[in-house]
Amino acid sequence: MFELEDKVALVTGAGQNVGAGIARLLAEQGAAVAVNDIRPERAADTVAAIEAAGGRAVAIGFDVTDHQAVAAGVAEVEGTLGPVDVLVNNAGNGGAEGMRPTQFRESDPASWRGPIDVNLYGVLNCSHAVINGMCERGWGRIITIASGAGLVGLNIGVSPYAAGKGGAIGFMRHLAIENARYGVTANTLAIGLMTNEDQSVTEALARQIPTKRTGVPEDIGYACVYLASPEAEWVTGQTIQINGGSVTT
Ligand SMILES: NC(=O)c1ccc[n+]([C@@H]2O[C@H](COP(=O)([O-])OP(=O)(O)OC[C@H]3O[C@@H](n4cnc5c(N)ncnc54)[C@H](O)[C@@H]3O)[C@@H](O)[C@H]2O)c1
Repeated sequence: MFELEDKVALVTGAGQNVGAGIARLLAEQGAAVAVNDIRPERAADTVAAIEAAGGRAVAIGFDVTDHQAVAAGVAEVEGTLGPVDVLVNNAGNGGAEGMRPTQFRESDPASWRGPIDVNLYGVLNCSHAVINGMCERGWGRIITIASGAGLVGLNIGVSPYAAGKGGAIGFMRHLAIENARYGVTANTLAIGLMTNEDQSVTEALARQIPTKRTGVPEDIGYACVYLASPEAEWVTGQTIQINGGSVTT
């Protein structure tokens, strides 16, 4: 079940944490995985971990916010591994990087573009680079990693990040509707708070989560394995929350 043996997957921002976990689990199910990160040394680490476990992976270092670089990167991946069957849009601001505690009314307009570029334009750029090929071949899976902050008001200081994630959620719903007839599904995982390197922060916040723990990459990676699989062909246009029970809409 959930065999990905003959599939090629591209996971963005997969040099560490959530993206690295997703890439590892897709590889475990048999997919050949293109590991993207803007920091090539991080992508190389993930590739090494996948290869050490007997999987197949290549590193590809492009910036998801740069449309031309994405197109060139996808062409390189397709030249090496073959056409991309599964795209996971994971690159984004995670943890503290995305959570600068500046309220919108005090914010510098120059700070808005970054989170919207990576969390929304990154998703558009990468989806655009793979969608035509998927439609022509009659099979494809696009999965975007968003956040509960794109669905409900969560905390102070993250409004441009929430705008990016909320925009991506709306985009994915319509990508799904446009491409369902070609055998391409598009789904979003709105994920909750992940385990942070700073254990004291993680433990304090975990107490507010119904399951009493923060997320780990496997919590997200197994959902990606399912959504990427042939068995999930009738699941499209959905925003699935994975958050230990924290956010409900
Ligand atoms: N960590 C959390 O608590 C949390 C909560 C909700 C949603 N998310 C979302 O989950 C995803 C993964 O989060 P994470 O905690 O693993 O993030 P992270 O910051 O630990 O890792 C993200 C990776 O993406 C790479 N990256 C950043 N910008 C990029 C770009 N422009 N092009 C290519 N690669 C780029 C980084 O180098 C990094 O390796 C993100 O989309 C994040 O917004 C995270």
